Amino acid sequence: MYKFFVRPFLFLYNPEEAHYRTFEMIRFLFKLPLFNYLFSKYYRVTDKKLAKTVAGLHFPNPVGLAAGMDKNGNLINYWSSMGFGFVEIGTVTPLPQAGNETPRLFRLPKDNALINRMGFNNDGQIEVAKRLAKRHSHIIVGGNIGKNKITPNEDAIHDYLSCFNSLYNYVHYFVVNVSSPNTPNLRELQEKEPLKELLWALQKANHTKPEEKPIFLKIAPDLTDSQLDDIIEIVQETKIAGVVATNTTLSRNGLKTDPEIINVIGAGGLSGQPIKKRSTEVIRYLAQKSGKSFAIIGVGGIHSAEDALEKLEAGADLVQLYTGLVYEGPGLVRNINKTLLRKQALQN
Ligand code: FNR
Repeated sequence: MYKFFVRPFLFLYNPEEAHYRTFEMIRFLFKLPLFNYLFSKYYRVTDKKLAKTVAGLHFPNPVGLAAGMDKNGNLINYWSSMGFGFVEIGTVTPLPQAGNETPRLFRLPKDNALINRMGFNNDGQIEVAKRLAKRHSHIIVGGNIGKNKITPNEDAIHDYLSCFNSLYNYVHYFVVNVSSPNTPNLRELQEKEPLKELLWALQKANHTKPEEKPIFLKIAPDLTDSQLDDIIEIVQETKIAGVVATNTTLSRNGLKTDPEIINVIGAGGLSGQPIKKRSTEVIRYLAQKSGKSFAIIGVGGIHSAEDALEKLEAGADLVQLYTGLVYEGPGLVRNINKTLLRKQALQN
């Protein structure tokens, strides 16, 4: 239904316009009597066998919405009806910001991929916190936090702490995003010393709270093995809950799309099917090298139930998707959960 009716209609619009139209459509439809009931009856797979406790949190199923889709928590009440077990909002920055100039989101249909250079467009921590405070959904919410573009890297800790404190009462876990390619120099914060300093500062703030919230680190798929070794050491040393692997890539290798088109699109992070393999490699490396000593949320190129299983088998505890939802629709979430149940039934 999605692939044959909804997607062709949405793909008539430019990608960012299609995103906002979809949000409007969802908001409209979910206000219709019975729509929520009927939609969730079809898409939500509820079975105790899908539930998982990760980092002390109880997830009804392991399939989450990746950061960037609902940056401001606008649809926070509806994601669980679409079958998601959790949702990550953000990236949220202290001050609201408009992001980069448009166009900044591009489809690569031949590759089932997207390129984006959104640049952390978001309503800012105060607005987002207010919106989350009013939600009536019980879905697990992760708060993905970052720094404003105007904040120099030397002051980045201040921005992350500010977001941590503002969102603390409204999210179940945090994700420290130092891996977006679209904020100048942000990825430098993935280096050993600045990263340690940042995570220690956040853990210190966490210890002062009545109840500690799990903190995850979101990393790029472009890190070398030796950089991944550093990440393992830092996660273990700072005792954060785990890693979200991975964000989008700067690489343009192996694409089917005409290189001329790729050239015209220009800078940005590539997501979707072309990053599946590398993202799974990173998950496997982290899981094996760390002896599975921390939680891993696997994300990158999940477009089928098999893709999700591959990530879980590589060592992910939970999975997330973004680009797969754009190309495959909400049936993908249902399909992954149904397949997980079938697999469990076969094993028992
Ligand atoms: C993203 N992603 C992202 N990640 C993040 O940590 N903060 C963000 O604000 C965004 N924004 C964003 C916008 C758009 C348009 C896309 C396509 C992606 C990255 C996303 O969460 C995910 O890590 C990657 O897209 C890889 O997963 P998929 O898309 O291949 O399932």
